[in-house]
Amino acid sequence: MLSLHLSELKPAQVQNYLQHAIAPRPICFASTMDAAGHVNLSPYSFFNMVSSNPPMVVFSPARRVRDNTTKHTLQNVLEVPEVVINMVDYNMVQQMSLSSCEYGKDVNEFVKAGFTEEKATLVKPPMVKESKIKLECRVTQVIPLGTEGGAGNLVLAEVLVMHIDESLLDEQQQIDQRKLDLVARLGGNWYTRANAQSLFEVEKPNLKLGIGFDQLPAAIINSNWLTGNQLAQLANVNELPSIDPSFNDERLKNIFQYFSIQPDDMEREVHLYAKELLDQHKVQEAWQVLLATA
Ligand SMILES: Cc1cc2nc3c(=O)[nH]c(=O)nc-3n(C[C@H](O)[C@H](O)[C@H](O)COP(=O)(O)O)c2cc1C
Repeated sequence: MLSLHLSELKPAQVQNYLQHAIAPRPICFASTMDAAGHVNLSPYSFFNMVSSNPPMVVFSPARRVRDNTTKHTLQNVLEVPEVVINMVDYNMVQQMSLSSCEYGKDVNEFVKAGFTEEKATLVKPPMVKESKIKLECRVTQVIPLGTEGGAGNLVLAEVLVMHIDESLLDEQQQIDQRKLDLVARLGGNWYTRANAQSLFEVEKPNLKLGIGFDQLPAAIINSNWLTGNQLAQLANVNELPSIDPSFNDERLKNIFQYFSIQPDDMEREVHLYAKELLDQHKVQEAWQVLLATA
């Protein structure tokens, strides 16, 4: 294990290690305006939602590591405390990247990167028409984290209006995560894409408490085949299941018949079967299979 004491590294190295490790990061494509009315559009991946009541987001235009200058976005929100955050999907990723070039303060990146300005309803900066989700925000606070190159500036903003393209909605007017195709930033030039092929679901532990690893029977917790993810699925049940006499499974019966004189092989086959069931989110069935030999 490489253990790094960050105070011993150069700021550029710190940035590089952290940006690869703290990833993927969502992208705030920020449209801002200065007091003279110049529009700016720049991406920021030091970004997240931090509260829903009030609905707050934070992003961080940092001082440049190279020469300690500040970003136009930061200068703008200090002059006009408003921002439109446009969410970036895969179809926009190259244009978004182009907009991050360090153009002069009077250069409008909508023009440079080929995006279309769309009037916002409450704030002065324009929205990106091509973006399918746009958040009109009021900047409530700007918190500098230092004065040296690399120092972030937290821009805290309250989301006032959210515009969602109807093509992203299901019948209940909720956002269908599979339709968004959002992109996120990692280290260096790496990006990732959250499309239907790359998404997966993890059943959320709800108000009922999962039994936990410490309550799993020894034969299960000491399994040579089940991984931490699979044990966690088993440990997320609300109470230790008992054998269900009505559970009548052909494959399990076959395993018993075939491996009756080879207990080690039988255990392997049972655990591999349970593993398959867990991968298909069939937790109760997996428990029944495992209880048959536990
Ligand atoms: C995807 C992406 C994410 C970025 N995230 C950040 C960030 O979180 N903080 C930052 O200071 N710069 C970030 N940058 C670099 C800025 O976008 C870049 O410095 C830009 O030129 C700033 O523009 P401005 O001076 O017009 O505000 C990012 C660039 C890209 C392409």
